[in-house]
Amino acid sequence: MKRIINEMKLRLPAVSVNEAVSRSVISAFMAELNPTVEELGDIRCAVSEAVTNCIVHAYRDLPEGKVGYIYISARLYEPREISVEISDNGCGIEDVEQARRPAFTTDSLGERCGMGFLVMESFTDSLKVKSTPGKGTSVLMRKNLKP
Ligand SMILES: Nc1ncnc2c1ncn2[C@@H]1O[C@H](COP(=O)(O)OP(=O)(O)O)[C@@H](O)[C@H]1O
Ligand SMILES: [Mg+2]
Repeated sequence: MKRIINEMKLRLPAVSVNEAVSRSVISAFMAELNPTVEELGDIRCAVSEAVTNCIVHAYRDLPEGKVGYIYISARLYEPREISVEISDNGCGIEDVEQARRPAFTTDSLGERCGMGFLVMESFTDSLKVKSTPGKGTSVLMRKNLKP
């Protein structure tokens, strides 16, 4: 078993101001590992994409005035590894394999380009997506920082 250096859990309302909040929190949390600027940027980007998906997609069917929550759970492991899980209790994804394909989007307004999962995958070492339609989605990312 890898030893855990630190861990945290966070619950935020799924509103757009919390994209920036989650990026800042994750930066502060991983500072202990002295990441390079590049590593920090990678994690910030990947977290941002996952959080944005909770805000934009997960709760799209909620009635006006109701807000859902984003749950972020992060851990630092020895020697220099970070894991971040971002989950929601939203609408879920019917076909995860299809959703992960580059350029796949359910957005009809033309604002999204369907690259979110690709960004999460390319900026981390592993990406696991679990989703149950009607129940929610969970995205687990891991990254090993340079020694
Ligand atoms: N948390 C989520 N809840 C529900 N659907 C999601 C979630 N995350 C992603 N999706 C679905 O997967 C698709 C692809 O996501 P992504 O690669 O980030 O592209 P984009 O957000 O640009 O559409 C989204 O269009 C959406 O249908
Ligand atoms: Mg997205």
